[in-house]
Amino acid sequence: MTSSRRADWLVPTALIALTLIPVAGGAIRLTDLTGGEVTPENARFFASPVPVVLHIVTAVVFCLGGAVQFSPAFRGRNHRRLGRVLLPAGLLMALTGLWMTLFYPYPEGDGDLLAAFRLVAGSTTVLALVLGFRAIRRRDLARHRAWMIRGYALAQGAGTQALVTIAWVVLVGPATGSTRTLLLGLAWVINAAVAEWVIGEPGRRRRALYRTRPAERTA
Ligand code: HEM
Repeated sequence: MTSSRRADWLVPTALIALTLIPVAGGAIRLTDLTGGEVTPENARFFASPVPVVLHIVTAVVFCLGGAVQFSPAFRGRNHRRLGRVLLPAGLLMALTGLWMTLFYPYPEGDGDLLAAFRLVAGSTTVLALVLGFRAIRRRDLARHRAWMIRGYALAQGAGTQALVTIAWVVLVGPATGSTRTLLLGLAWVINAAVAEWVIGEPGRRRRALYRTRPAERTA
């Protein structure tokens, strides 16, 4: 593989790595639901398994497939075909997340603030995906890119939450109750900020190019 082809896959590889912890969590939860015993910790999932199963499957498809969409090598027809799978997967992931927030009883340690964070993240993800879809129907590529990056970043909150929580536990101490809630919220804020930075990048590069002297521009 040439170095430029390797560079094409750098971002997707990093994004896939970011998804690995929640994907592992999902695999453990699905295994538990297919053969484990009911405990106070998992009773809500056993009582209504469909939303959590749909959520895990669609979240994994959306996060892994979405990572691939960031590769410049994966453009054109392939990007469009995969997009047709990822859009419903992303919507279902966010809608089941919203359903679980509203209808599952809170597990110990969770409260209204965490539910509010989840409602904001889940509904903003739905909105971003719908606006991203509408933009591409109108052939507005810049707006499509921006909204899809926003939707994907919020979904990837799950991966950043795992990293932020691990870092806190290692460096500071236990992450429970309101500390955990604030860390989960912080992860969504980090991802939203990174998304806005990435969305602004082509404009910044263009402006930097036009600040250089004309001779350097044509070189
Ligand atoms: C907008 C994004 C998301 C929202 C609002 C959301 C929301 C939720 C909610 C409310 C639950 C139930 C929590 C509980 O009752 O303990 C849940 C569970 C879960 N979510 Fe998400 N989620 C999102 C994205 C993701 C992504 C991207 C992944 C994985 C790649 C993921 C993986 C999981 C897993 C594995 C569970 C089961 C947790 C367990 O076993 O305790 N979620 N999610």
